[in-house]
Amino acid sequence: MNKARFITFEGVDGAGKSTGLEWFVAALRQRGIDLLVTREPGGTPLGEQLREILLHQPMHAETEAMLMFAARREHVEQVIRPALQRGTWVISDRFSDASFAYQGGGRGVPLSKLEQLEQWVHGDLQPDLTLLFDIPIEVARQRLDNNASLDKFEREQGEFFVRVRQAYLARAAKLPQRYAVIRAEKSLDEVQRQLADIVASL
Ligand code: TMP
Repeated sequence: MNKARFITFEGVDGAGKSTGLEWFVAALRQRGIDLLVTREPGGTPLGEQLREILLHQPMHAETEAMLMFAARREHVEQVIRPALQRGTWVISDRFSDASFAYQGGGRGVPLSKLEQLEQWVHGDLQPDLTLLFDIPIEVARQRLDNNASLDKFEREQGEFFVRVRQAYLARAAKLPQRYAVIRAEKSLDEVQRQLADIVASL
């Protein structure tokens, strides 16, 4: 029996990550895998309250980084670690890579500070696999424009997302054994084919 996997989904807003996640989860469930789907920021009652604040209140970039990791601390201890220990796979819609991309790349919080927070909060736990939905920012923006109620992050300018995307790609290049990069600008069928290959490889 394989050990329970911890798999995370990442990408800029509008990349189609949530649709991809739904498909991926259904494919794993079809194979009889016991799994839990969760998200960040969020995943616990306190984390969901912090999400409301993080997505709607303006704040200093480092406050934002620390609150993301505070929510993550609860998430790791209450949800992720216990599930993995009982053999349940965990699929999380975002994890620390999002802090490196958004707070680091997007807002300019120094990498060294984020690395300290990461070490503190989950130094001994990393995802087994991270699916990065990569897409040109113009395409992601067009997808978002059709969506009426945008949150604080989604209302950022294009240059912010260019930096977020670059930070994600830099991390994927640095950690190729953990990352799978999905070409998310392709048709839904093609994205699903890419996901199916990953499911088959697990
Ligand atoms: P979602 O829309 O994919 O649920 O993500 C919520 C927003 O929070 C998204 O714009 C990215 C942002 N975010 C960060 O800035 N840092 C983080 O560490 C996480 C987990 C999310």
